[in-house]
Amino acid sequence: MKSFMMRGTKILATGSAVPDSSLSNHKMSEIVQTSDEWIFTRTGIKERRLLTGVNQSVADLAILASRKALDKISMNPQDIDLIILATSSPNDLFGSASQIQCKLGAINAVAFDLTAACSGFILGIVTASQFLQNGSYRNILVIGADVLSKWIDWSDRSTCILFGDAAGAAILQSCSKEDNSILEFQLNTDGNYSNHLSISYQEEINPHPILNLYQGSFKYVVMNGKEVYKFAVSQVPLSILKCLKSLNISVGDIDWLLLHQANERILKAVAEKLSISSSKIIANLSKYGNTSAASIPLALDEALQDKKISHNDIIVVSGFGAGLTWGTIIMQWKSY
Ligand code: UT7
Repeated sequence: MKSFMMRGTKILATGSAVPDSSLSNHKMSEIVQTSDEWIFTRTGIKERRLLTGVNQSVADLAILASRKALDKISMNPQDIDLIILATSSPNDLFGSASQIQCKLGAINAVAFDLTAACSGFILGIVTASQFLQNGSYRNILVIGADVLSKWIDWSDRSTCILFGDAAGAAILQSCSKEDNSILEFQLNTDGNYSNHLSISYQEEINPHPILNLYQGSFKYVVMNGKEVYKFAVSQVPLSILKCLKSLNISVGDIDWLLLHQANERILKAVAEKLSISSSKIIANLSKYGNTSAASIPLALDEALQDKKISHNDIIVVSGFGAGLTWGTIIMQWKSY
């Protein structure tokens, strides 16, 4: 626990949402040259959900997930002080969080987007907990939501098989230090490798004839899968160990390992490196693929619905991805 903490953070409720439309590996093999066998053995993914239809955006999924979380505790949206939307696929480059604020009727909340790709929810929770622990705000809605299907090159089999669309939300509240759930965190970025995973802005060849100004547009997800894999398997265990060390607890104290759902092989390799039993891994990527910022809150919400997690369980939560950015939060789950 950070010594300068004045108050604690508790997680009151979670919610999640996925689109109805599902795309199986078999169907995928009609779109690109691949097979169910290749995808499943390399990633553990069987199917993913895609946000189809006209005028559907990340905001729609985020609102659905948020409403479910609010409904669970019958919270009035007007009691929310801050909304943090972690997304890399907004429907407005100025941010989508304000659309969510408006549609939820959270009229007293300030709202902003946070861009940190697959680590976005981790960064969102850590950011929110600063406001809660220093007493600035009482209730914060943190959402991780992405619709990377809109940013995928559907002819690139090395990326299109991986991603799915989803949203997950958590309502955090300021509490006494004794009830604090966010015990420790550890965050990192290494921009040297930002080119390993990006949706880069590409300029047109010719500038504006008078202004010498180059305009352009964002293209598709481009990833060096092998390098991202190696980075995740080497850095995530180190981040977890640092976190455990500063809390002065051991690997044996961990009840659940909740990692960004990128690839089942990564989840298993991280657990193995730390000698954590595979029975402690929370995984749902076979059904949803890699849902970027949504993957952690979606898996957390599902694990809670399945009643896997008990009061006072220690959950190690790690995110990793574009940036490259990665980080860990150690939570002690409190049931209310
Ligand atoms: O959320 C952000 C974090 N992202 C990640 O964590 C992704 C991490 N990386 C990975 O999960 C893996 O690297 C992948 C699943 C993306 C790829 O697995 P891999 O074992 O690293 O495969 P590879 O890229 O080395 O490709 C092996 C072979 C290649 O063929 P050759 O060159 O050996 O003939 C690829 O062309 O597999 C081929 N390949 C495919 N074959 C069938 C690549 N994609 C496919 C595909 N279906 N979808």
